[in-house]
Amino acid sequence: MTGVRTGVRTIEWRDSTVVLIDQRVLPHDEKYVICRNWEEVAESIRTMVVRGAPAIGVAAAMGLALAARESSALGAEAFRSSLQRATKGLFATRPTAVNLRWALDEMERIWARNGLEPGETAELMERRALEICEEDLAACRAIGENGADLLAELTQGRPDLTLLTHCNAGALATAGYGTALGVVRSVFARVPGLRVFVDETRPFLQGARLTAWELVQEKIPVELITDNMAGHFLSRGEIDVIVVGADRIAANGDTANKIGTYPLSVLAREHAVPFVVAAPISTVDFSLADGSGIPIEERPAEEVTHMGGVRVAAAGVGVRNPAFDVTPAANITAIVTEKGTARPPYEDSLRPVAEGPYPSKARLTGGAC
Ligand code: MRU
Repeated sequence: MTGVRTGVRTIEWRDSTVVLIDQRVLPHDEKYVICRNWEEVAESIRTMVVRGAPAIGVAAAMGLALAARESSALGAEAFRSSLQRATKGLFATRPTAVNLRWALDEMERIWARNGLEPGETAELMERRALEICEEDLAACRAIGENGADLLAELTQGRPDLTLLTHCNAGALATAGYGTALGVVRSVFARVPGLRVFVDETRPFLQGARLTAWELVQEKIPVELITDNMAGHFLSRGEIDVIVVGADRIAANGDTANKIGTYPLSVLAREHAVPFVVAAPISTVDFSLADGSGIPIEERPAEEVTHMGGVRVAAAGVGVRNPAFDVTPAANITAIVTEKGTARPPYEDSLRPVAEGPYPSKARLTGGAC
C-alpha cells in the first residue's frame, strides 16, 4: 500500500486499484492509501483506513473485483477457489455491518454463475463493483431527501432546528453524501437555521475527527460535545431531533450502530425527542428476527487505554471495547431508507419499504466512483 495526496474522495476505483482516504489520520492529515490487491483492501477495512457500513461494503466489492482481475488468467476451477478465498478473507475483516456480506453476496452472484469465462467474469465483477458504489451514492441522496421530508413533518417545519448525531455516517462512511449526514445536508439546504451537535464518539473519535471535519468544510453550523453531555442538552430542551446511521437493522427494527447510540435512544425517549435511523436497504438483515443475533465486534484494548498514541489509563487495568450496541426498535421513531420511511411496527413496515420501487430521485449519476 502506498500513500499519496490527491483531491478528497472516500473511495475510488482508479486504474485497477482501490484508492481510499486514510480515515485514521483525518482531520490532521489528508493521505490516501492505494490498494493493489484484495489482501490490501481487507487490511484497510480491518485497520479502519476505510470504515462505515456502506463504505466497507463498497470497498469489499472492489476488493473482490481486484481478486477476479488478478486470477482471470487461471483455469475456471482455480479462478473460483481464489475468489472463494478472497471472499472469506474480506468477510472476516469486520463482523457487525451487514453491508459487507451484502456486497460480497452481490459479487458471488456473478462469479458463481455457470458457463462464464474467468476473463468475462472479472469484467462483469468490476462493472458491478462500480455500480454498487454509484448505487450507494444515489441511495444516500434519496435518504437525505426522505429524511428532510420526515424532519419537516416531525418538527412542524421549524426554521431553527437543532439536531444531534453520533459517530460518522457521512460522506466518509459511504460512497459519498452520507446517510445521517445525508439527512443533515438535505435539511440544511431547506433549513439554513439548522444547527448540529456532534458527539465526539469515544474511543475512535469518529464524531470529533470525521463528522466535525465534514460539517466544518461545508459551513454547516456544528458544535462538538463529549459523549456524556448529550443528556444535559436534551434535558434543557436544546435538541429537537437525533439522527444516526446503522450497521445492521434486524427485521423487527432493532438497530446496531456505533457504541453509545443505545444510551442516546434511551435519553431521547425520556425527553420525548424523535430518534431517527437513516440507512440504505442493504443495511437491513431480514434473516435476523431481532437484534439479539447481531454480532458485536470487540476492538483492541489500546483504543480505550490510549488517546492519540498516548496512554491515559492505569497500566494493568482490564478493558472492554465493544464497537457497537443495539438500540431496541421501541426507541426508534422512524427508519429512513432510499426507498421510503418505515415506522413502527417495523415487522410490518420494513419489508414493504424494502420491496417497493426505487424512487426516481435516487437515479444513478454515473462516473462518480
Ligand atoms: O466502526 P465504524 O466507524 O465503522 O462505525 C460506523 C458506524 O457505526 C456508522 O454509524 C454506521 O456504519 C453507519 S455509516 C453510514
